[in-house]
Amino acid sequence: MDDLRAFIDRARELGECKLVENADWDLEIGNITTWQASLPDSPLLLFDRIKGYQPGYRVAANLFATQRRNALALGLPLEARGIQLVKAWRDRMERKIELLPPVEVPSGPAKENIRLGDEVDLFQFPAPRWHEFDGGRYIGTGCMVIMRDPDGGWINLGTYRVQVHDRSVATVYISPGNQGDIIRRKYWAKGLSCPAAVSCGQGLLLWAMSGISLPFGVSEYDYAGGLMGKPVEVMKGVVTDLPLPAAAEIILEGEIVPPEVETRVEGPFGEWTGYYGSGARPEPVFRVKAVLHRNNPVLQGAGPNIYNTHSLAVSLRRSAALWAELDGQIPGIRGVWHYKEAGPRCMVVISVEQKYGGHAKRVALAAAGSSAAAYMWRWIIVVDEDVDPSNISEVLWALGTRADPEDVDIVRGCWGTSLDPLLPPEKRQRGDLTHSGGIIMACKPYHWIKDFPRSIKPSAEVMERTEAKWAPLFEHEPR
Ligand SMILES: Cc1cc2nc3c(=O)[nH]c(=O)nc-3n(C[C@H](O)[C@H](O)[C@H](O)COP(=O)(O)O)c2cc1C
Repeated sequence: MDDLRAFIDRARELGECKLVENADWDLEIGNITTWQASLPDSPLLLFDRIKGYQPGYRVAANLFATQRRNALALGLPLEARGIQLVKAWRDRMERKIELLPPVEVPSGPAKENIRLGDEVDLFQFPAPRWHEFDGGRYIGTGCMVIMRDPDGGWINLGTYRVQVHDRSVATVYISPGNQGDIIRRKYWAKGLSCPAAVSCGQGLLLWAMSGISLPFGVSEYDYAGGLMGKPVEVMKGVVTDLPLPAAAEIILEGEIVPPEVETRVEGPFGEWTGYYGSGARPEPVFRVKAVLHRNNPVLQGAGPNIYNTHSLAVSLRRSAALWAELDGQIPGIRGVWHYKEAGPRCMVVISVEQKYGGHAKRVALAAAGSSAAAYMWRWIIVVDEDVDPSNISEVLWALGTRADPEDVDIVRGCWGTSLDPLLPPEKRQRGDLTHSGGIIMACKPYHWIKDFPRSIKPSAEVMERTEAKWAPLFEHEPR
């Protein structure tokens, strides 16, 4: 499904879309989204008739609050839940994915309206101010920034936030080291501006790929095409020669100037950690030279909230990636679940069928140093195979009954980020962004595992049989 509208329509058919009219772009969209996100199974929110805007200029938010919408976006079985979803994604990743380059089409819906030069007005769209202490309005949260590597010629897509400053001036915040930052610096090193385009609403599988790091030189366009089994349709930019998603809702085209040419103060912005970690600082300006949009455009919103319902399957993907990585080294892993509620990176639970003393600890240490989870992990919790890591009740049961605080290990000097709210000011000042992580063994002690009291939890097979026989009576959704 390579189109945001098709996703919204499907969510509506599934009874998972709510139209919200007459909300204010200034905080109200953000507050309603946070409120809804705090409730179980909250709907996709489609805001229309936004204060000060003509009907049809919409914002879509809370897109991925339910596991079913995550499955829909990623093309996974709609009935899969929890650890089954992670497994489905892991199995898909393990199949070899052929890279499928995008196909160029002469035009597309995104060119239904084109504004150039003085006609460009970023305030044309109801970009929300998401949180009370945000430094401004963000047109890019559920967005993709499109750039070409000047050396290899390949196209990078990255989700980086975009703040509106003026009719044609924005900033793009890219954490140092992310590929978009490496690419733009290559242009700047030659005294050139970096051509860039920002798509602010697009197919969700494509968008999901722009939020992950592929090897340098591999285009997310090609990877998403391979995953979908059909190439992404792109069209030539109007003022850049960048390939733009033909079915995008809104596209901004222009260039990011070198920092010595012009900067604006970016932020603060409420971030994925649930805090204002990176504060406000000067960032190079993105000069917008053309705006393309569909009729009745839908701005894709992913303003963070502490419930992290914006993180399209981020935890799902990260869990699947870690599971696959651990499987390659250590047998016995039965499931992996990153709790998005703890900040999508900060807490992972791994279930292991322990086969020898030290097995569970080995798994935890491998996870701490893994490609998938090493960055900004805070807690690694290991549970036994009878505990579903995606079920918080079961995890808390294991923590309460199998974790001995005496055995918590602390690992110091781990790979962190300036976004970490727990980074002490003096460490931040001297540029030390490392943090410590805790490893909790919430599993039966291996050396007396046979004597550990038998649990009253029925086996998975018994539960499946019971559910298969009795579910029709209760008419409940699969878990
Ligand atoms: C909703 C969302 C918002 C994000 N915002 C930013 C951001 O503002 N800046 C940033 O550097 N990374 C941000 N990220 C993380 C990057 O998208 C991610 O690191 C991605 O791998 C970057 O792509 P790259 O590897 O091609 O640079 C965000 C991710 C998501 C899912």
